[in-house]
Amino acid sequence: MNTLDSYDDLPYDSVPITDTHPDGLRAIARLFGVDAKPAHACRVLELGCAGGGNLIPMAFYLPGSRFVGIDLARHHVEEANALIGELGLDNVRVLHRSVTDDLSDLGEFDYIVAHGLYSWVPRAVQDRVLAVCGRQLSKDGIAYVSYNTLPGWHARAGLRDMLLAYCDKAARASARLAQAHALFDLLEPALRLQATAEAQGLLAEIGYLRRAPPSYVYHEYLEETNEPLWFTEFMARAQAAGLDYLADAVLSTMLPATLGEDAARELSGMDDRIRVEQLMDYARLRKFRRTLLVRRETAVRGAPDLDAFTGLACHADLASDEELDFASDAPQAFRLPAGGECRIAHPLAKAAAMVLAMRYPDSLGWYQLLAAASALVAEHGDERFIGEAAAFKTEWFSLAAYQAVRLSAEARGFGADPPERPEAHALARAQAKRGRVLASARHAAVDLDEYGARLVQEMDGTRDLDGLADWLLQALRAEGRPLPERGALRAACHRLLWTLARSGLLA
Ligand SMILES: C[S@@+](CC[C@H](N)C(=O)[O-])C[C@H]1O[C@@H](n2cnc3c(N)ncnc32)[C@H](O)[C@@H]1O
Repeated sequence: MNTLDSYDDLPYDSVPITDTHPDGLRAIARLFGVDAKPAHACRVLELGCAGGGNLIPMAFYLPGSRFVGIDLARHHVEEANALIGELGLDNVRVLHRSVTDDLSDLGEFDYIVAHGLYSWVPRAVQDRVLAVCGRQLSKDGIAYVSYNTLPGWHARAGLRDMLLAYCDKAARASARLAQAHALFDLLEPALRLQATAEAQGLLAEIGYLRRAPPSYVYHEYLEETNEPLWFTEFMARAQAAGLDYLADAVLSTMLPATLGEDAARELSGMDDRIRVEQLMDYARLRKFRRTLLVRRETAVRGAPDLDAFTGLACHADLASDEELDFASDAPQAFRLPAGGECRIAHPLAKAAAMVLAMRYPDSLGWYQLLAAASALVAEHGDERFIGEAAAFKTEWFSLAAYQAVRLSAEARGFGADPPERPEAHALARAQAKRGRVLASARHAAVDLDEYGARLVQEMDGTRDLDGLADWLLQALRAEGRPLPERGALRAACHRLLWTLARSGLLA
């Protein structure tokens, strides 16, 4: 079997991709009238799964479902199988195979995921990705395929072309990456002297690449293939493979109203969904898409069904620095977990955000959430707002469309405060041994610092908070490292325990 030298030399950092989780995919499908299989009892195939950082956590948290990953880079497959072996999981396999192999022996799948694969492989492999989805999706199954798109990628192509021309094609991936950084060093001071929008744009892009994981920079900017394409072109290929459009994984991008009233009016008379979304890609200069596909014969609604929305559940981890006012619909700012903020106006929506933050990572069904939010507004706000469930629903849908609130097909409880002697679960400890990114129960990446990663490995249920702080101090002393002040270290350990508990990472 072949391997892919560039990935063996510079393995891809494989982390949980929240949008690929079957529970969220099923929730979106329900809005469009498609009843996909429940996340806790489904079959998932991931094409190009790298080291399993996306697939293996799903298998760990969903023991009743079955998972298969394939990847052509030997190193990735070995890495994935080492983790599977260490965790003793029997519901996930990662195989050293190519998408171009005959995969029919693997059978049908309810979810097929190809993230970060399609644009980065030659056309023959791209066609196989869609062919596998077309042939091996089960009835009402969902395929998730991400790819770079036009027109947005035109703006990035300039730097990619420069790097491809500058770096030695015959050199190894790691050497080419070093050459890319040498070119950044050369360009940056010169660009800073130029006040043009182009120079400043390029400077910002280089700054972004300097902060990005090296494997991303290499495989996006220096890999031989990176084909961005128009959405219409991608959909024509998908349709030729027997597939049809379900939705975008990011619902807000499907809503013309997000482009303002004038654009929404222009687009409102058109009923060709693919054309409308292509026009929206022009207007947004869109660079990247996460397209959900179904088998051609699956009936799909043309627009999301707000009634179905009330049959779903949601979870959210929003925090506000303001005192929340449940007696007024003046917008208030909430911080998003990944940075940035959203504004929430309706008192029921503010109260719902607070309820979910207190219960995170649990998800609550719509009516349960409405009841809890109404109780908060009745007690601390203005009762007149309680009757406005429709206004709440409209605003809540918009928050879900922008992913400030995450949709789940099912309500599920995880939550518990950290116990006195915390034990990190097996996946958390195995991931902390390998790096600094853990996969939360909500399939989000939880980034740790060096101390955090070391502490997680030591959380075996034998030490309390003071015991953990003392263990780290002792370890640092033995290594001759500078010692943090004990009070500050204890407080940091305390914050870490809460982060782990809120992420569902404690046993
Ligand atoms: C850019 S990485 C993305 C990895 C992962 N899906 C993610 O997004 O984190 C592309 C992956 O596809 C794999 N790959 C490339 N060509 C392949 C092929 N023909 N068959 C299977 N895997 C392939 C690579 O080895 C690599 O792991």
